[in-house]
This record gives sequence, C-alpha cells and structure tokens, in this order.
Amino acid sequence: MAASMQLINLTPFRLHSTSIPKHHSRPFTVRCSSSAKSYNITLLPGDGIGPEVISVAKNVLNLAGSLEGIEFKFKEMPMGGAALDLTGVPLPEETLSTAKQSDAVLLGAIGGYKWDKNEKHLKPETGLLQLRAGLKVFANLRPASVLPQLVDASTLKKEVAEGVDLMVVRELTGGIYFGKPRGFGTNENGEDIGYNTEVYAAYEVDRIARIAFETARKRSSKLCSVDKANVLEASMFWRKRVIAIAEEYPDVELTHMYVDNAAMQLVRNPKQFDTIVTNNIFGDILSDEASMITGSIGMLPSASLGESGPGLFEPIHGSAPDIAGQDKANPLATILSAAMLLKYGLGEVKAAERIELAVLNTLDRGFRTGDIYSDGNKLVGCKEMGEQVLKSVDTKTPASV
Ligand code: IPM
Ligand code: MG
Repeated sequence: MAASMQLINLTPFRLHSTSIPKHHSRPFTVRCSSSAKSYNITLLPGDGIGPEVISVAKNVLNLAGSLEGIEFKFKEMPMGGAALDLTGVPLPEETLSTAKQSDAVLLGAIGGYKWDKNEKHLKPETGLLQLRAGLKVFANLRPASVLPQLVDASTLKKEVAEGVDLMVVRELTGGIYFGKPRGFGTNENGEDIGYNTEVYAAYEVDRIARIAFETARKRSSKLCSVDKANVLEASMFWRKRVIAIAEEYPDVELTHMYVDNAAMQLVRNPKQFDTIVTNNIFGDILSDEASMITGSIGMLPSASLGESGPGLFEPIHGSAPDIAGQDKANPLATILSAAMLLKYGLGEVKAAERIELAVLNTLDRGFRTGDIYSDGNKLVGCKEMGEQVLKSVDTKTPASV
C-alpha cells in the first residue's frame, strides 16, 4: 500500500537553529562517538491505563534501542494518583529530582475518579502541572495526522479527514493555568467566587512563537496563531508579540484566527492548517479536537521541550479509568511518544523511525484496538498490540518500507 509508506510526520523541526532548545544537540555532540550508548529514562506510569501503556512502550524502546546499539536504564517513579496513595503528594520531590537528572521522561497518564474530589493541591493533575513547570518544558508539540490506514476511524467524512497533517504548538507553562491572582474568595456582594488570570510576559510569547515558526518552517511554512484578541488583553498582547517575532521569519506565512473560529474550521476544513501556535488553555482544547479528526485520541503522542534539561513525552489521552486494567487500552500513542522521545529528546532518529515504521506496519497487518477498530480488521488488546509492534520492530525490513 503505497500511501502507508510515508513515515508518520512527527517532524516539528530539524536541529540546526540557534533558537532550538539546547539539549537537543547534546546527544549528538556527547554520545554519538561511543558505540554503546546509554540513556537514563524516567518512566512515570501514573494512573488508570498509564501502567499498561508504559509497560508496552518500555519493551518497544528496549528492542528498537538494542537494534541500534542503544541501551536504556529505566527508573520508574510514582506520579499522580499513584503517588498520592503512596506518599500523600501528586509529585514527590524524589520523582521530580529523578526526572530532572535523566535524559528524558516518559509519562503514561494521571488521574481517576478516586482523587477527583481532592483539594486542588492534592489532585493528580496538579502533579502534572508541577512536573511541567519543574522541568520548564514550555513548548508542547502535539502532531495530529490522519494515517491512511485509519481514515475510516475518523468521525469526519473521508474527503475532509484524508491527508490531514497538522501540528499544534501549545504554550505549556504559562497563561491561565499558572497565572496569578487565582483562587476562591468573595466578591463585593459577599458572593463566593472562583477566579483565574490569563497572563503572558513578552519572553513567554516570544520563545513559543520562535519554536512555532521553526516548526512551520520545517513543514509547509504556514503558521496560524490562534487567540481571542477581539476580547482578551492577554490575546491582544500575544498577537502583537507573534507579529513582532514574525519579522525574523519572512519565509513563513503567518495568519491569525480567533479560537472560536479555529474550533469550527478544524472540523469544517482541517486541511487548511499546517502548524498552529496557541496559548496553554486554547492548546489544551484544540489538541483534543484535532485528535478526533485522526480517529482516536489513543493514537496521538506529544513532546514537551524546554531550553535545557530533559523533555517530557506523553500520550495526549488521559488515564481512561473506565477501561483501566482490562487490557483494552491503545498503546500506540505512548509508543509514538517513545518515538518522539528518541527523535527530539535524544536525537536518536534511526531508532525513532524504526518505531514509527513498526506502528504503520502493525496497522497495515490489520491489528486494531477497540478505539480504532473497523470491520475486517483484527481486534486486539493492549498487550497483543504491543507484541505485534515488537514483531514489526524486529523485522529488519518491515513490509511497509
Ligand atoms: C492535557 C491534559 C492536562 C492539561 C490535564 C490532565 C492537567 O488535559 O495534557 O491535555 O490540561 O494540560
Ligand atoms: Mg487536555
């Protein structure tokens, strides 16, 4: 199947620019000379389906690594609800310090019914935000491409979904998620209120804009900045800074769109987009929407990168407590996150491509978890999907090459 021969386009940018986070070049300069390369990877399985998908991705990393002469030293640490149960906090200090000292971090998923009613500082989600802030990973890359094998899994019409290949660049450590003042209180009428602040400093917009322009430049040089500049001051400021940074990238076509329109355009005609850059909360929402164009949120990986230090790699799906422990989860988003870890975290492009090809090859051979199943294919669970990907990784020349 010729169409399936393409590699999954996880390519945000190549490692040539000075504005690219520094740690991306570290593996090239330090590690490539040695034949037996070794990396420390922190695994954070988390909650729900997290442990199931992480265990599969770990096996895939090990095999792809061994075929490329790479060794991984894994350290598994508690995080999210699992950490709350074990230590009373969602991100134990030791988990953060281990993560900081490693070469890359692979996270499963966090959260679950059990902790939903916890106070804010004791929510699993708070641990994730602390991790992102602690690792200073401000740039979140969320690719969404419709694979030819899965075009029927999209809820959109085939002609709308076919060929979609976009990248959401989400600002991850600022905006309303972190802005102050925030909290609960009472207003002048004595009524209880809850409030948050959407705030961006120039350096925060500038650095995410540069990552987005670099990303777009390595794709089709089209960047759409999404904001709500018709209403929000923080968005007016965002737009002003993005326009200022655009002067450094005259070769990239920049457009702007209000977020409500962007949400509508994503389902009306998603192929008009290539790279989207947006703030933390709009990126959260639009990346979930973009994921459904591809058929399943269970397919989409992500990479979160900072200026230095290890990157954080995680599937964009949640912990899916409704199917946890039932061997029903789709491990492909985590496997593809492991591929992003290799490519953007460690600069191990060959091992990464081995994994991407293996995923395509497994889909070509008809294996599907429930979320991406369609008639005529083979329905498998999480473990079996992992076994099949391993088989494809092991194939010296996968059928889809
Ligand atoms: C995501 C998630 C998180 C977010 C939650 C779990 C804190 O929805 O990674 O998209 O809002 O960023
Ligand atoms: Mg989300």
